[in-house]
Amino acid sequence: MILGTGGTIAGASARATDNVGYRAGTVSVESLVSAVPALASKRLEAEQLAQLDSKDMDHATWARLARRVREHLDRPDVRGVVITHGTDTLEETAYLLQRVLAPTKPVVLTAAMRPATAMQADGPQNLLDAVAVAEAEGVQGVVAVVAGQVWSGLELRKSHSYRLDAFEAGPDAGPLAVVEEGVLRRFRDWPRGEALDVSVLPPDAADWPWVEVLASHAGADARALDAWRSAGLKGLVLACTGNGTMNQALEAPVRALKDAGVPVWRTTRCAQGAIVGADDEPASALSPWAARIELTLALLRKR
Ligand code: SIN
Repeated sequence: MILGTGGTIAGASARATDNVGYRAGTVSVESLVSAVPALASKRLEAEQLAQLDSKDMDHATWARLARRVREHLDRPDVRGVVITHGTDTLEETAYLLQRVLAPTKPVVLTAAMRPATAMQADGPQNLLDAVAVAEAEGVQGVVAVVAGQVWSGLELRKSHSYRLDAFEAGPDAGPLAVVEEGVLRRFRDWPRGEALDVSVLPPDAADWPWVEVLASHAGADARALDAWRSAGLKGLVLACTGNGTMNQALEAPVRALKDAGVPVWRTTRCAQGAIVGADDEPASALSPWAARIELTLALLRKR
């Protein structure tokens, strides 16, 4: 089952030489599949779930996507689900789907750094590789396949703004596998865990708690936090400096948030590593974006 959600893989530009000035989420998922002749002999169904630039991914679409993936996975004739997605928030969607579905069948997200109209588009190969992973024996869980590498949905992070191999895994992890000429070479175990269930995700975005990420930085100013607290913020993830420290200007407003019962979780804004010596911090080894999802899920489960 191939579900289309948009992204650069479905992007289009008027000029084949243009790798950046395109419109994401333009080409239909059926067209993406039919652009790969090697997929013609396979038994595939394609469904357009959304047509977004993934910078605009939203909670209601996530709720719809998770439910639709669950429905397809429950079909005995479906071996796996491939999702075409933008690279920009791929890691967030992958993290959410793994935590909610923890599927025993493969759910393979794929994407591209160049639009479908580019002279050397990377989308067709990535889609072919994603189908190869979904078909391979024993694969399970939510993974992402880009530029021949297979990443855990719980670990991947976009780490480059332009390169075709734009992803890495954190903290301090590598790919789970590589795809070489349609053959999988695996290094580590597939993602596993307990599924929270799609029922945890409200279909209406208005029912999701408001959880923000704030980075600590030189010259930090407390006013944003005070404004968020007054406006009803429900949870905060701090992208802290280094090993989990924050600018002193943020200390008082963070304390005020905690005193008001708003959970505040610390992560590091460093591209790699975890907050060492902070085992009591629920998100010490997560990226700020994964932590935001984890905190959102924790709040949703309390309702
Ligand atoms: C997007 O995330 O939808 C646009 C950028 C990309 O896919 O690389």
